[in-house]
Order: sequence, then C-alpha cells, then structure tokens
Amino acid sequence: MRIIRDVSEMQAFGQAHRGVRVGFVPTMGYLHRGHTSLMALTRPRCDQLVVSIYVNPLQFAPTDDLTRYPRDLDGDAEKCAAVGVDVLFIPEGFYPATFRTQVVVSGVTSRWEGAERPGHFEGVTTVVSRLFGVVQPTVACFGEKDYQQLTVLRSMTRDLALPIEVLSGPLVRDTDGLALSSRNVYLTATQRERARSLHRALFAVRDAPAAWNLGQRTAAGRALVDSDRLDYLAIVDADSLEPLPDDAPVTAPARVIVTARYGGVRLLDNVAVAPTPAL
Ligand code: PAF
Repeated sequence: MRIIRDVSEMQAFGQAHRGVRVGFVPTMGYLHRGHTSLMALTRPRCDQLVVSIYVNPLQFAPTDDLTRYPRDLDGDAEKCAAVGVDVLFIPEGFYPATFRTQVVVSGVTSRWEGAERPGHFEGVTTVVSRLFGVVQPTVACFGEKDYQQLTVLRSMTRDLALPIEVLSGPLVRDTDGLALSSRNVYLTATQRERARSLHRALFAVRDAPAAWNLGQRTAAGRALVDSDRLDYLAIVDADSLEPLPDDAPVTAPARVIVTARYGGVRLLDNVAVAPTPAL
C-alpha cells in the first residue's frame, strides 16, 4: 500500500489512472469496522482503491475541539492494508492559502444536522468536492450511518453532474447494538449503556403496529430514548429528509433518524422504514 501525503502527487495518480476504475472512501480516520466495511464494499467495484484520512477543519464549529478528534494513523494504515487498499491519502496542506470556494447544497441541508450544526454540511461538501477533484474517483462510497450526509453528497454529485457513482454502505452496529462511530470512544460505561436506548427506540418505531400513525410511532420512540438531551427523533422521507405528517401511515420509503447527547458526545443513528402495506 502506497501512502501519499502530497496533494499534487495524489492528483497525478488520479490522472495517470484515468482509464481504470478508481474507488474512493473518504474518512476522517480512527477507523472502525464501519469504515472497513465501506472499503470492502468498494474493493470489488474498482481496480485501484484509495482511502483518504483528513480531519477537515471546515466541518467543525469554532467551539468544537478539532484537536480532540481521535487519531490513530498507524492503526488506520494497518486496517487499510488488511482490506486491500492501494493508496492511503493523508493530505498535508490540503487547502491552499488562496482557497476561497464554498460548495453549498440547499434544501436537504436545512434541517436536522444542518440546523444543529450551522456550517457543517458546507464544510463537508466543500472538502468532498476538493477530494473528488484531487483523487478523480470513478466510484465513491459513504456510510448510511451519517444518513443526511449521504443524502447531501448524493445531491451534490448529481446536481454538479460529477461523473462519479456514489455507493452507500449499511450502518454497522457493535455487539451491544450501538452504531459504530469514532466518537463512541468518549462514552463512559454508563453513558454507553444508556446510549443503547437509541437503537431500541429506532427499532420500536420501525416495528410499531401497522395501525399506528407516524405521530404515535415517534412519540413511542422518543419516550424510549434515555439521554442527556434528545436533539431529534423523526420519521422523514428517505430522499428529501422532510418530516412526514404525523397523522398519516408510511406510504413511501422513510427513515427514522435520531440524535442525542451524552455529556459532550453527540450520537447519531437511523434505520429504514418500509411503506406500510395497504390493508
Ligand atoms: O464522514 C466523514 O468521515 C466526513 O464527513 C467526510 C465525508 C470524510 C468528509 O470530511
């Protein structure tokens, strides 16, 4: 596995591999099975697999402690090599001093994480656009764990007509049901135990009796969440991420999304809900 730190060298690699399928999994490192499952999903769909590790300052609020984001470059490199990654891109000086562009997706960014973390998605779409320009992938893979991020990045790729296929990989859970996240490392044992209520609440909403309307389902789900603060639990249209009306059944593919806080740690989780069959 080749490690590239220089942005121009990475771009030259992309240019030299124009005729072959380049797969790309962008990450912020501290890799877990969720990340490696995305790499494993992309591996058979490409000739060259590139993974990036870059903790992007643009997607953190000034109040977030960027330096506190967990890092383990040696461990990450071992995990990438084990799943057959060809190039590990760990950019240094990723944004030039003259950088003055922001990529903004509207609509799907306005609610949920967009409302809770102003500027976050602009940071994500800007870094991913630049990464796409540098790596020049044929196919890029993102996790369903960050479901809104995936929706935003699909919209961006489609709207800008970027010639990149966007793949998504399913959310991966730990043995206790908690969605895998680099941030789980900050949970105390008690917080972790309480955080198990998140997936239980999601599954309860998904598996609620068919006769329940959405208002009943979300109320039941919210009551099950044990957290310091529930930012939101909602049933949304799987594509637009608009909340679905409380008094209706599920008629189109939907997603239950939840975000809750445990001390300073925000956890996100979600699950798909199939439309209720007509009686
Ligand atoms: O999901 C992440 O790890 C990041 O938001 C991403 C897509 C690598 C952009 O920095």
